Amino acid sequence: MSKPLPKTPEEIKEMRIVCRLAAEVLDYIEPFVQPGTTTAELDRLCREYMERVQHTVSATLNYTPPGYSPYPASICTSLNHQVCHGIPREKALKKGDILNVDVTVISQAGFYGDTSRMFIIGDASILAKRLCQVTYESMWLGISAVRPGAHLGDVGHAIQRHAEGNGFSVVREFCGHGIGRKFHEAPQVLHYGQPGTGIEFQPGLIFTIEPMINAGKAAISELSDGWTIVTRDRSLSAQWEHTVLVTEDGVEVLSLSAACPLPPKLVTGTLATATASTIAALPPAPQS
Ligand code: MF3
Ligand code: CO
Ligand code: CO
Repeated sequence: MSKPLPKTPEEIKEMRIVCRLAAEVLDYIEPFVQPGTTTAELDRLCREYMERVQHTVSATLNYTPPGYSPYPASICTSLNHQVCHGIPREKALKKGDILNVDVTVISQAGFYGDTSRMFIIGDASILAKRLCQVTYESMWLGISAVRPGAHLGDVGHAIQRHAEGNGFSVVREFCGHGIGRKFHEAPQVLHYGQPGTGIEFQPGLIFTIEPMINAGKAAISELSDGWTIVTRDRSLSAQWEHTVLVTEDGVEVLSLSAACPLPPKLVTGTLATATASTIAALPPAPQS
């Protein structure tokens, strides 16, 4: 993979817009994530919202990396033991399920914004809720490690330490990624690693942080649909994703929206306060 290039001020403006749009798809779909709804219905609703309300295009629909068949849906829906890239299905969600919805949109200007959240259907087991919370905290601890002069390995280390410290494991095969006019660019952002290793952050870099954390072992398998990734031991898995920008003095989360969750309590300082005030000032996502 080539060296990551910092974005220009104009590119950063466009990335702020498209990442917010991706987050607003999640705001829009949240009320529909209920027992009895199918993930195929969530996919149809998100597609219509992107196309009719936002005038964005799903980056995942027909996405065909080398060696893959075209991805058949406008969002990814990864349920319970599914780790990532779950294909929406005509099967009803039920109370106690945990679901990741991952949205990547392409703006009219041609930029990509990528973000995902966990949803708990009705109520879930204590383990399922703890897994979702620890994964959310792990993502935010990774984000907190981003600043000019820090290294990629600092992010992976912060995530791995928190996930494993809580008895969970980190999926190794999938990572965060640079993003801009392309869906996946340099750098690869591993969710495990050693402090001080990997490239040094410089202002203008934009990438995702998207840890996949398993309740059981880290090993995964791919289903015969060619896309859906599951835990090999069929234990629960959770994932959260934000797209972030390295600023002159720290980090800015780009995929914020009016209804996105606030940073967790264990993140404090300027990042937490700046993020909370940005969220509070955002207008609600337009409804269809
Ligand atoms: N949005 C995913 C990511 O975070 C990629 C999904 S690719 C798909 O990188 F084809 F599975 F949709
Ligand atoms: Co994503
Ligand atoms: Co991503």
